[in-house]
Amino acid sequence: MSSPPVAVQRLVLRSPDDWHVHLRDRAMLRSVVGYTARQFRRAIVMPNLVPPITTMADAAAYRSRILNALDDRDDFEPLMTCYLTDDSDPEEIGLGFEAGVFTACKLYPAHATTNAHQGVTDIRRIYPVLERMQRIDMPLLLHGEVTDPAIDIFDREAVFIERVFSRIMMDFPALRTVFEHITTADAVAFVESGGPNLAATITPHHLCINRNAMFAGGLRPHAYCLPVAKRERHRLALRRAATSGSPKFFLGTDSAPHLIGQKESACGCAGIFNAPYAIESYAATFEEDGALDRLEGFASEHGPRFYGLPLNTTSIVLERDPVVVPERVAGTSEGELVPFHAGETLPWRFTGFAPGE
Ligand code: DOR
Ligand code: ZN
Repeated sequence: MSSPPVAVQRLVLRSPDDWHVHLRDRAMLRSVVGYTARQFRRAIVMPNLVPPITTMADAAAYRSRILNALDDRDDFEPLMTCYLTDDSDPEEIGLGFEAGVFTACKLYPAHATTNAHQGVTDIRRIYPVLERMQRIDMPLLLHGEVTDPAIDIFDREAVFIERVFSRIMMDFPALRTVFEHITTADAVAFVESGGPNLAATITPHHLCINRNAMFAGGLRPHAYCLPVAKRERHRLALRRAATSGSPKFFLGTDSAPHLIGQKESACGCAGIFNAPYAIESYAATFEEDGALDRLEGFASEHGPRFYGLPLNTTSIVLERDPVVVPERVAGTSEGELVPFHAGETLPWRFTGFAPGE
């Protein structure tokens, strides 16, 4: 009779990066940035501030504010993105990329989500920018949802593939594109069917919750984000993709803090604040699916390879030691934040960085 396998007690992973995060600004930035810097070595920082980050000067100033908000500046590298508008200037974007100020551009369809009102109204308006980006191999990051109010909110990602993304891929076949925070089996299939220049990020929450979470015993604003969580079959498709070992899928938390008062409201903001226990959440998911050996690829290797950046040489340590996620954490003087998994117990505890190999 064979004995049951002994559960792994300690995980040492190449330091991960977060390829999609909202760090906000001012007091909120100061409260949240430490959570991301604690576990991730680099992060792609979303540009949807008010006003958005659209110039090299904006990005450089925001990057300094991020570093100034951290106690230890050497350990964390914010990678800045440029928010595309109908008026984006290919020259500014091209120069910004070549100067290393911008790592990528972010496309928000106008009004698709938080602070997307200055986003792109018609993809043809930015074709000169996309041409330039394709030429210089600058990544395009897409919030993949149509905004047509006639389209059911649960179908907006699938319709975006049909109406917008397929056309971009056809017209710019060599453009490096990341389908951000995918939520559907349709997006998984689309990304799998594309070439190596098409990849996707997957959040911790879309791996854990389906749309029922928003209505469990009442309205649950802390489970509301955009793109909204979909049916269970979509969540399962995302789990299969994330744990498959395919280099096309990598970690992007989409951590998006909003104060409790902005979430628990008659018109609550979209966004799940998962930064405090992000790597612990992914570790729990990968373990549940028997794929702990694939966590490092997803969290620490597929992203930098796609972006053409070096792999991190330091490591992080996770111990099998249950951690209880607090109900609330500090936000600003105006209120607190509810972290993803609030009140739950996660099996793995992040215990810090280890020296590189
Ligand atoms: O839920 C979301 N929150 N989705 C987004 O695309 C934006 C984000 C935010 O900035 O709050
Ligand atoms: Zn986002």
